[in-house]
Amino acid sequence: MANELLIADVIRVRSSWRSYDGRPLEPGDRARLEDFIAALEPGPFGGRVRLELVEASPGDRAELRALGTYGAVKRARTFLAGAIKQRPMDMEDYGYVFERAVLFATALGLGTCWLGASFNRSGFASKINLARGEILPAVSPVGYVASRRTAVDAVTRFFARAKRRKPWEKLFFDGAFGRPLSREAAGPYAEVLAMVRLAPSASNRQPWRIVKEAGRDVFHLFISRSAVYSGVATSVAGGDLQRLDMGIACCHFGLTARELGLPGKWERLEPPALKLPERTSYVATWRGR
Ligand SMILES: Cc1cc2nc3c(=O)[nH]c(=O)nc-3n(C[C@H](O)[C@H](O)[C@H](O)COP(=O)(O)O)c2cc1C
Repeated sequence: MANELLIADVIRVRSSWRSYDGRPLEPGDRARLEDFIAALEPGPFGGRVRLELVEASPGDRAELRALGTYGAVKRARTFLAGAIKQRPMDMEDYGYVFERAVLFATALGLGTCWLGASFNRSGFASKINLARGEILPAVSPVGYVASRRTAVDAVTRFFARAKRRKPWEKLFFDGAFGRPLSREAAGPYAEVLAMVRLAPSASNRQPWRIVKEAGRDVFHLFISRSAVYSGVATSVAGGDLQRLDMGIACCHFGLTARELGLPGKWERLEPPALKLPERTSYVATWRGR
């Protein structure tokens, strides 16, 4: 991580910023971010993400419109945008890799905001030369934050209840859904799960659920789909936003585990035989070693 910050500190300070001061990235910050995104490995499920920094020149109205956010973000000059080839687990891999870049930008002191819906998808697609067979699931502004959040930012945060997270007991389970995992039973993974809980998610719905196997460092990740996202809204043109949330959760889990010296990896396995709540399905498993 940049500046030797702990990943947990970076995760704690990250929040979605929608108001910027209009300055372009300073050359040093830009170079560090570019080096970081150029060196990113594929996601845990094997998908390679092509990330780029794209810039809108302030005087160019057509370009500003092309890189528009429908009013969601104010005075951002630079955006992180990316593409991934369509394949199984593409959205999860994109979520994972893009979140790594978001956390790196956060460690540099830059503001970010995942945008999976409120951005001009075709404008960004042409800017990054989106190829046939690729998808562009989400973008984010990256820049110096305005000293105060604008009204749009404050209102969006209020409606997304951005600071709130579901209680631990509703997210993490011990052997079966309905049986909350105690922090003691989570052991060294308690901090890892705490960092999953602070992850950003589309509309702050927090669709991640994790079931730990009794007596083993094996964690099964599930998606608990929100009713609003289970219909048409699930598949905005760029794909399924709640699957991006899954990749982001895998990222927070994996980076925190690595920093704590807890080896393991994410894999997609045969779903465990568990009784699942409504609209809940298996995503992947962390197998600690
Ligand atoms: C996959 C994804 C898509 C998102 N799309 C948008 C969006 O289109 N517009 C927006 O204003 N915020 C968007 N957000 C930001 C969320 O609203 C925000 O992460 C959530 O409310 C939690 O707040 P926080 O990021 O400050 O912790 C998105 C977040 C994620 C993870």
